[in-house]
Amino acid sequence: MAIEEKQISKVTKEEIHIRPMTMEDYQEVFDMWQSISGFGIRSVDDSREGIERFINRNPGLSVVAVAENGDIVGGILCGHDGRRGCLYHVCVRQEYRMLGIGQEMVVRCKEALKKEGVNKINLIAFRSNAVGNKFWQRLSWKFRDDCNYYEENLNKENVTNFIP
Ligand SMILES: CC(C)(COP(=O)(O)OP(=O)(O)OC[C@H]1O[C@@H](n2cnc3c(N)ncnc32)[C@H](O)[C@@H]1OP(=O)(O)O)[C@@H](O)C(=O)NCCC(=O)NCCS
Repeated sequence: MAIEEKQISKVTKEEIHIRPMTMEDYQEVFDMWQSISGFGIRSVDDSREGIERFINRNPGLSVVAVAENGDIVGGILCGHDGRRGCLYHVCVRQEYRMLGIGQEMVVRCKEALKKEGVNKINLIAFRSNAVGNKFWQRLSWKFRDDCNYYEENLNKENVTNFIP
């Protein structure tokens, strides 16, 4: 813990490298998700197989932020359906927040989606997520209050475990 704190105290945005996420990152990224309070982790979608399917379907779009010591400190699952882009599990480890890492990862995803010919991105931020909502508002993403969000579950085994 002491070593971790020492490393964190000297980190600056410049020491962070953002690159595409690969399946080799999966376990470390999954462990990071487990540390993000409020995240909903889905048993099927977020399993190794689920993420592999997502990444193979959306090659090169998801990103991780890597610190100088090689630790993954942030990530975004990014994809599209040929029309709309989508971002999931946007996160930065607590100790690395407010350094611009989240914003820089979003910029990377936006650029990658634009190259794919995608014109719009949608994402969900729970109303209870004050930090997440402040972040998107600060990035000037448009808040939609004129539509409701609907979903239909096609797989009862895909249960969500919320991180306390
Ligand atoms: C949301 C999150 C990814 C932001 O990551 P981050 O690296 O700390 O954000 P950045 O440093 O890039 O901040 C970008 C802008 O948002 C603002 N911002 C970020 N967190 C904020 C907060 N808690 N309160 C107010 N503003 C905030 C920053 O001040 C910055 O604006 P600035 O350039 O004017 O200073 C991070 O807080 C996180 O992982 N939260 C938990 C998971 C989550 O809620 N994800 C979003 C799901 S919708």
